[in-house]
Amino acid sequence: MNAPNNQRKDRFQLSFMIPADVPEVIQIETAVQSHPWSPGIFQDCIRVGYTCWVCRENNTTIVGYLIQSIAAEEMHILNVCIHPDWQRMNLGTLLVQQAEEAGKKKNANISYLEVRPGNTPAIRLYQKLGYKKIGIRKNYYPTDSGREDAIVMSKTFT
Ligand SMILES: CC(C)(COP(=O)(O)OP(=O)(O)OC[C@H]1O[C@@H](n2cnc3c(N)ncnc32)[C@H](O)[C@@H]1OP(=O)(O)O)[C@@H](O)C(=O)NCCC(=O)NCCS
Repeated sequence: MNAPNNQRKDRFQLSFMIPADVPEVIQIETAVQSHPWSPGIFQDCIRVGYTCWVCRENNTTIVGYLIQSIAAEEMHILNVCIHPDWQRMNLGTLLVQQAEEAGKKKNANISYLEVRPGNTPAIRLYQKLGYKKIGIRKNYYPTDSGREDAIVMSKTFT
């Protein structure tokens, strides 16, 4: 069930990911992704200055995270995950909206992302937030048997 906005703000907080968060982040990543990023990829994202968010419950447990790059008036959502026990509570929405606000503050006027064609929850989330399918990236994602294409989605900020 969705918590009302004010209740959600009291219970969940967004902050920048720091290197010490990565072990907790990796637990979620390995629980929800078929081909999870390694700890080194998250550490690199922080090191090179990507905007990396964590969502905590009651200022303690990390329940989700989002990685974005912002450059040249564009932003790119590279990864967003919510712990299975906290899904469907609008936290993915909260993180994507936070990323969009951060992008706009740095003059991004468009947001891009990739998603696996079979990832209906993520596609619905992005569509609900106004993202449209704009193309395909061939052989983008690893699979157990090889590679699969990605759907590319974008949203223009007005
Ligand atoms: C995709 C993901 C981030 C969504 O996070 P979430 O916090 O559960 O999403 P929200 O609660 O904000 O959902 C917003 C909307 O997205 C859609 N949605 C989310 N999960 C869904 C599901 N399992 N089935 C269908 N629609 C879903 C719904 O339209 C939902 O609105 P509603 O609850 O009013 O119907 C989460 O499922 C996840 O971490 N998945 C595994 C990692 C992943 O695939 N990341 C995306 C990589 S591109």
